[in-house]
Amino acid sequence: MLLDTVIVLDYGSQYTQLIARRIREQKVYSEILPWDTSPEEILAKSPRGIVLSGGPNSVHAPGAPGISQELLDSGVPILGICYGMQVLAKALGGRVERGAAAEYGRASVRFYRENPLLRGLSETSTVWMSHWDQVMELPPGASLLAESQEGVLAGFVAQGGNHWALQFHPEVIHTQEGTAILRNFLFSICSCEPSWNLGEFVDSMVEDIRKKVGDDRIICGLSGGVDSSVAAVLTSRAVGDQLECIFVNNGLLRQNEAEEVLEAYASLDLKVHYVDAGERFLSALRGVTDPEKKRKIIGGTFIRVFEDAAEKVGGAEWLLQGTLYPDVIESGHQGKGAAVIKTHHNVGGLPEDMQFQLLEPLRELFKDEVRGIGKILGVPEKILGRHPFPGPGLGVRCLGEIREERLETLRKADAIFIQALREEGLYDSIWQAFCVLLPVNTVGVMGDIRTYAEAAVLRAVEAQDGMTADWARIDPAILDRVARRICNEIPGINRVVLDITGKPPGTIEWE
Ligand code: XMP
Repeated sequence: MLLDTVIVLDYGSQYTQLIARRIREQKVYSEILPWDTSPEEILAKSPRGIVLSGGPNSVHAPGAPGISQELLDSGVPILGICYGMQVLAKALGGRVERGAAAEYGRASVRFYRENPLLRGLSETSTVWMSHWDQVMELPPGASLLAESQEGVLAGFVAQGGNHWALQFHPEVIHTQEGTAILRNFLFSICSCEPSWNLGEFVDSMVEDIRKKVGDDRIICGLSGGVDSSVAAVLTSRAVGDQLECIFVNNGLLRQNEAEEVLEAYASLDLKVHYVDAGERFLSALRGVTDPEKKRKIIGGTFIRVFEDAAEKVGGAEWLLQGTLYPDVIESGHQGKGAAVIKTHHNVGGLPEDMQFQLLEPLRELFKDEVRGIGKILGVPEKILGRHPFPGPGLGVRCLGEIREERLETLRKADAIFIQALREEGLYDSIWQAFCVLLPVNTVGVMGDIRTYAEAAVLRAVEAQDGMTADWARIDPAILDRVARRICNEIPGINRVVLDITGKPPGTIEWE
């Protein structure tokens, strides 16, 4: 495949994937490689440009990630971002030191615009900074590109216009002219052609899957959601009959979900086996209230159920999962030192003695990219438009002990909320909405009778990729109707509250 490619070298930043994604948005193919990939391997891909990501280290720490002389001398344009700038500064003979104070968040910078990277930008602009170390002295012969209001060196160009460096993050949405900077790098400096598209990416992923699995057999845990469905259709395109899909009813599904999902899959050319394992999951969860324990138990039980199912369909070497990039990063598996927020069952909750190798073709992508791929592959809108639903299902929305009657109560409340959003035409514009059942009894009064029942939470969020979110401002009249219906129609609930927490500081799910 002869595509203009830009390599992003990962130094452990939370934003590495975002850089690759922003480049792909400009229709230039971008691939992430670990920072210590050999220069031969990197240059064998004939990159048009190389971006060095940010990272949590100090260039002065013992064994700190650096850059090879071969890459510096290769003639390929390099853009260092944040830690990447410090790596370039140090390698080219500049001086990097710990600043007087860390600098996080918005900052105003002045751009020196007589160069191809900053051409066409405003003279002063808002950018997103996130660093402790800073460049105190430019490498010999380098010129200053940008400077913050506080006088921090915020960018330089060195080596005859081949090595570019920025202290701030152009890939982050809060950097006002970030896209313009990346476009300048791609098109003016690297002379890339904007010729990459999702369709070709699908073809190359299909090819990769074929190469990876050969004649092996694969099973896929289908959940009815976007990610696993797209992963399955993609893999089926690559290996056809070698793929068997298992749809597990884990007893933690929403109202009528199993029926609806099986109906939606009927139109796709997939072999789908239905396994009702509700009892197995619920007995494994009996008495458990700790969120991480619940996640691990559900993840572990899934694997055991898959292993049994795989045996029934003649064995499999691979387990296909629709893991996306945010799942990977939040489970703490990204780069160096990223924190574990929660163990996403399809990433961190897998038992160590699992018999399968993992196939995760969507691991580098964000949800909206996956929806785009789904469209190309003909996955029905009914599946693509569904709100995300976590692998552990209602298990992480039924707080406290998971019992069938509490799950049933939660299902009914959730169905009322979702039905209202659909009727009001709000479902598609909201990223995700659901009910949570709290293990908290409160006193109420209904028809002169005292009630003492549990409370339900309405949770609805706006988001672009689930990594950050804001609570959805739903018309109070709609909320009122939902709350009344829930209290009137569901005996187990006598109080409804609205969650008005963003992410951060909250997460979207409650557990
Ligand atoms: P949080 O709650 O971490 O969720 O803000 C971010 C997004 O991920 C979904 N989520 C999961 N998805 N397996 C999944 O496939 C999981 O274990 C899992 N936990 C959370 C969540 O619904 C939201 O869309």
